Formats: sequence, structure tokens, C-alpha cells
Amino acid sequence: MNIILFGPPGAGKGTQGDKIVSSFNLFKLSTGDLLREEVKKKNELGLEIKALIDKGKLVPDEIIYNLIIKILSNKKFYNRIIFDGYPRNLNQAKNLDILIEKYKQKLSCVLSLKVDKEILIKRILGRQTCTKCGLIFNKFFYPATENNHSCDPRYLEIRPDDNNDTIASRYETYLKETAPILDFYQKQNLLHEINGTAEIDQIFNEIQGILASLEA
Ligand code: AP5
Ligand code: MG
Repeated sequence: MNIILFGPPGAGKGTQGDKIVSSFNLFKLSTGDLLREEVKKKNELGLEIKALIDKGKLVPDEIIYNLIIKILSNKKFYNRIIFDGYPRNLNQAKNLDILIEKYKQKLSCVLSLKVDKEILIKRILGRQTCTKCGLIFNKFFYPATENNHSCDPRYLEIRPDDNNDTIASRYETYLKETAPILDFYQKQNLLHEINGTAEIDQIFNEIQGILASLEA
């Protein structure tokens, strides 16, 4: 099955995506993570991407398409992709439908995590990501400890776009460009709304229930 993890910045897409990967035999495709890898290359494309991410704006669809197509066309990931942070506007959503059909795959569901703005801001400002293993923690809600993280704490970093100004702009972009595609998936009967303010494990239990019912 291919699934979409949908939600505003800080909703928990990456957190739940990692948990799904370890319990189901799926592969997480985070366009945000792929873009941050491009930024690290410090070439012309990387600089263009960085400028947009720092402003909280969407990166052009064509750049995203080039990242997505490599994975969707790869037999290794056939029908086992978790899309995290993609699609992000109506054009990307329509394009994904075309690609899914072209590569004879199936979109099984869209899991939409609903969280209020005030909580999102606090979550984003507390986020720490491990640059070595990629795991996501939070200094307020889910601190890295010896029990849940095996890398040295010096690898924990704050994302450059996790500051008050960029958060405000990312949220505006979400409302204007991304939230409207919920209607697109509602009409296809693929949408599952989830209370994203619950505990991490509670949300994951709900997701497991939904995915199990799709597999049955
Ligand atoms: P991206 O990396 O996708 O960022 P985002 O959508 O803003 O989402 P985040 O990664 O901030 O949040 P998340 O939902 O993954 O939450 P997380 O699990 O980390 O995109 C970054 C940028 O790249 C965009 O702004 C755009 O410029 C560009 N971009 C990306 N994709 C694009 C596309 N398709 N098209 C065009 N441009 C694109 O959790 C957040 C924090 O909360 C963590 O600290 C976590 O520990 C904590 N937490 C999680 N769940 C809970 C919980 N239930 N209770 C308490 N704390 C929790
Ligand atoms: Mg994320």
C-alpha cells in the first residue's frame, strides 16, 4: 500500500512516518528530508531550495517531481511508500494520481493529522533532529534519552526553518496551498482524519488500526 501522511508543519508526519516504517514493511519518502539533502550539496539548486525553505515557501513543483519520480519508478519501493509532506498543492496531488496510474500502483489512504496552531508552534520550537540517525525528538514533549536514542547527543540539531518568523510563513503557506487538497482526497474517499494532539503512541495505535483494516 502507498499512504499519504498529511498535516500542517509540526503535526507529527515525520514522527508517525518513522513508527509506521518500523512496524510495516514500508519506505518513508519525505520531500522535506530530500530537499534538505539537496541543500547540503551547496550547489546552485541547493541554494535555490534553501532560500525558499528559509522563507517558508513551497519549492517549485518541477524540482519536487524530479525527486518523486526516482522513487515511484523504482521497483524496490513498489506499492510501499509513505508520502510525508507530499503532495503539497493541488497540482502535485493531480500529478501524483497520474504517476500512480502510470506505474500501476495504488493510493490506499490519506492520514490527516489535525493539530491547532498554538501546539504546532510549541512543537516546532522544541524539535531536535538527529543528523546521524534521522530520528525526531522534542525538548518539551519527547526528549532524547539513553533509552530512545543511541547516537551521541551532539548530533541533535535544530532545523534552520524552525524559528518564529519562518513558522508563521510555513503555516500561511499550508493554509493557502496545502489544506485545500483535503477536499480532493475526501472526494476520492481516501481521507482519514486523526486527532494529532493525542500522545504519540495513541496516534500510532489509531494509525495501526486504519492500516490493518486496509490490509484485511
Ligand atoms: P517539511 O520538512 O515537510 O516540513 P513541514 O511540513 O513543515 O513539517 P515538519 O517536518 O515541520 O513537521 P512534521 O509534521 O514532520 O512533525 P514532526 O514529526 O517533526 O518541509 C520543509 C520545507 O520544505 C517546506 O516548508 C517547503 O519549503 C519545502 N517542501 C517540502 N515538501 C515540499 C513539497 N512537496 N513541495 C514544495 N515544497 C516542499 O513533529 C514535530 C515535533 O513535535 C517533533 O519535535 C516531535 O517530537 C513532536 N511531536 C510529534 N508528535 C507529537 C505528539 N503527538 N505530541 C507531542 N509532540 C509531538
Ligand atoms: Mg517532517
